[in-house]
Amino acid sequence: MASVDTAVEPNDSAGSEPEIGGVRRRDFINVAAVSFGSVGVVATVFPLVNQMNPSADVLALSSIEVDISAIEPGQAIKSSWRKQPIFIRNLTEAEIEAANAVDLSGLRDPETLADRTQEGKENWLITLGVCTHLGCVPLGAAQGEVKGEYDGYFCPCHGSHYDTAGRTRKGPAPTNLEVPEYSFLSDTVVKIG
Ligand code: FES
Repeated sequence: MASVDTAVEPNDSAGSEPEIGGVRRRDFINVAAVSFGSVGVVATVFPLVNQMNPSADVLALSSIEVDISAIEPGQAIKSSWRKQPIFIRNLTEAEIEAANAVDLSGLRDPETLADRTQEGKENWLITLGVCTHLGCVPLGAAQGEVKGEYDGYFCPCHGSHYDTAGRTRKGPAPTNLEVPEYSFLSDTVVKIG
């Protein structure tokens, strides 16, 4: 036997609802609910944002100080900064002259050695040890490693050659080795980052 639906639909007509200060009761309830919801969202988001702030140990790693006093002209060392290799090279007079003798118009990424070093410290070439092609670590910083055709660095992954200013000279690397932000704290200590 078929049942008969006897439910009564509420009357939504505006004229049937009481008003509070000119605002219908249902509108008032909606506004109150939205306001409460906003407070809930703020309370939820704050801990997430707070968790995303770098911790003290991460901040400490954002810069490093390196003692360069033992790096003789013609030598380089590898360090690490923000989980990336860093090359710090003490250029010889001959390497500086070779870098300065290059015609910029023939460079893929034209920069002078002076652009890539600090005034009065042109012998200190500080770059990321990350090939700008696909991110391999080039050779040439450690004693006895191949330095490539331009006496700087060589990336064997696909054959990129960098010169004594760390500029890309041959192979697929599109840009020069990146120079990070750094400053000299003294003649023998450099701060990177
Ligand atoms: S990653 Fe260095 S040449 Fe490709």
